[in-house]
Amino acid sequence: MTESFAKAGISAPVLGVETSCDETGVAIFDPRCADPAQGLLAHTLYSQIRMHADYGGVVPELASRDHVRKLLPLVRETLARAGLQARDLGGVAYTAGPGLVGALLVGATAARALAWALELPAIGVHHMEGHLLAPLLEADPPQPPFVALLVSGGHSMLIEVAAIGRYRLLGDTLDDAAGEAFDKTAKLMDLPYPGGPALAKLAEQGRPGVFRFARPMTDRPGLDFSFSGLKTQVLLAWRASDQSEQTKADIARAFEEAIVETLAIKCRRALAATGARALVVAGGVGANRRLRAELAEAGTREGFRVHFPRLEFCTDNGAMIALAGALRLKAGQHETPAIAVRPRWDLQELAPVA
Ligand code: KG4
Ligand code: ZN
Repeated sequence: MTESFAKAGISAPVLGVETSCDETGVAIFDPRCADPAQGLLAHTLYSQIRMHADYGGVVPELASRDHVRKLLPLVRETLARAGLQARDLGGVAYTAGPGLVGALLVGATAARALAWALELPAIGVHHMEGHLLAPLLEADPPQPPFVALLVSGGHSMLIEVAAIGRYRLLGDTLDDAAGEAFDKTAKLMDLPYPGGPALAKLAEQGRPGVFRFARPMTDRPGLDFSFSGLKTQVLLAWRASDQSEQTKADIARAFEEAIVETLAIKCRRALAATGARALVVAGGVGANRRLRAELAEAGTREGFRVHFPRLEFCTDNGAMIALAGALRLKAGQHETPAIAVRPRWDLQELAPVA
């Protein structure tokens, strides 16, 4: 990894743009740095959370329009923070999917237009590859082969990573993603949007053992997930309860424990099945403290390494897109100027980087 970074194929920093959902993220990554953890020159993020909170969830059309307003000012700010001019850039990367199609198109169009005007190569990045590679921005990064647990608002996947760009899906969700389960469960107990972090915060006040929910699909072999039944269990427990603040916290704690233990069981199974000795955990739910603690402890106990991105790079950000794009541009990959985004996109269709 480090060695291939030193043999840089592109000779200048890469601008990364993320607009797949409700965060506008921009970053500049310099692929010439020998150590990828040193390559991030600047990053900025604008979260639309306050705007969507009034509606209890992301309103796609509002998201697209807000990306239009925020993206170019953020590009200017990121360049300024890095002490660079647009002409100093060597390439442009943008999230091309999966995500909300209107939101994706804003980032893709702006990034493509910039690349065209500056005569730079540009590349569309898979959002989940961005998440998967985010731990490479930290010191002592993971080296493939490893297993990746990708847990976001839209996905819960276990991936075998043989090399950067060589991904095999080991397990997927049959219904709700882990983040979606957090968000929907939070909503049914009247917690404010975004539900995941609010529910996790409330769970800290919960008492252990007051409620207990199932660990779905852990009683049979396999690496797939199913979280929608858990949500129903919470709904029934909540309706039958006194609905006090303490009860809400107790339920939140039991729900979080059920999700975290289920994810941890499947991670251990995936490591055993592949023989990998390292686990990468990324995506918004990777910011969950109980999940981080539980997996770190399992790693110490059972002898595998666990790599997380820093908290701010678990949720959507431009840094992971700049990094993923820089790796591919450096390997000589880029695309024609056609603007194409993919609201649905199989991670296993990607080309290997090397
Ligand atoms: O990766 P991300 O920012 O966006 C997607 O690609 O979907 O993930 C957002 C998801 C949301 O469902 C949010 O509730 C969840 O991650 N999330 C959390 C926490 N922080 C964010 N879930 C549990 N605990 C957290 N601390
Ligand atoms: Zn994401």
